[in-house]
Amino acid sequence: MRIEGIILIGIYFSGTGNTRHCVTEFVKQFSGKNVVASIEEADVLSRLAQQEIVVFGYPVYFSNTPRIVKDFITGNEENFRGKKVFIIATLGLFSGDGAGCAARLFKKAGAEIVGGLHLMMPDSTCDVKMMKKTHEENLSRIAETDKKIALAAQSLKNGKPPHEGLSFINHAGGLLGQRLWFRGKTASYKSKPDVNTVKCTGCGKCEGLCPMKNLSMENGKAAGHDRCTLCYRCVASCPAKALTILGKEVHEQWRMAVDN
Ligand SMILES: Cc1cc2nc3c(=O)[nH]c(=O)nc-3n(C[C@H](O)[C@H](O)[C@H](O)COP(=O)(O)O)c2cc1C
Repeated sequence: MRIEGIILIGIYFSGTGNTRHCVTEFVKQFSGKNVVASIEEADVLSRLAQQEIVVFGYPVYFSNTPRIVKDFITGNEENFRGKKVFIIATLGLFSGDGAGCAARLFKKAGAEIVGGLHLMMPDSTCDVKMMKKTHEENLSRIAETDKKIALAAQSLKNGKPPHEGLSFINHAGGLLGQRLWFRGKTASYKSKPDVNTVKCTGCGKCEGLCPMKNLSMENGKAAGHDRCTLCYRCVASCPAKALTILGKEVHEQWRMAVDN
């Protein structure tokens, strides 16, 4: 694979900032530049058009791609035809084939998969206590992941990128380990988040943040509709801790700072 002089862009979806951090860091390590775009940006497809390699990142949800990511790839297949795609999947604990899930969609679109990387980051499900780590543990996990990113970016430069999550064995691991049991969770958008109307102050912050425009203010309170992609951005940002998705109470509002 020719790498010298290659032009590369990082594209990501990130609910709470982990994936944005990882893709930005990878691209910086690879090219020394900060050429990244979120799939939520209006000009993302035109920016993608000029690039040879796309570093595409997303968080793993139930060992699968978030619905918003699936729809972005399948809805824009022609934009990926003939592109080289390096996939970054971020996760909190386990994913057999996190990168493989999007790889299969990209291949169907006619893209060439040049590698895959699984990166452990803090868990973003703010209302699931079992998954929570201390702040120090989260920071040390990020530091380890940053080292892994630097090595992987160097390997891609050397023409020997990692292929994590892309093998048949990874596929079987993701399917049997989780996806078969949780397939319904990402098969469609959901009627979420749940709103605690006693806690909600009606500040409207969530409405502006939602990537799906799934929240609105009704009678001075937030109301979730049926287009939730489960990203947790609203849950992590609500000043009143009034929103939940999988659990019933917010334990930790994890958000990766922009300058991390
Ligand atoms: C709905 C949901 C489901 C998740 N499922 C998994 C999972 O199956 N395995 C895993 O390791 N992490 C899982 N996670 C954790 C996220 O993949 C992880 O925290 C990710 O880095 C979040 O990235 P973001 O901040 O870019 O949104 C899940 C998170 C959410 C919100």
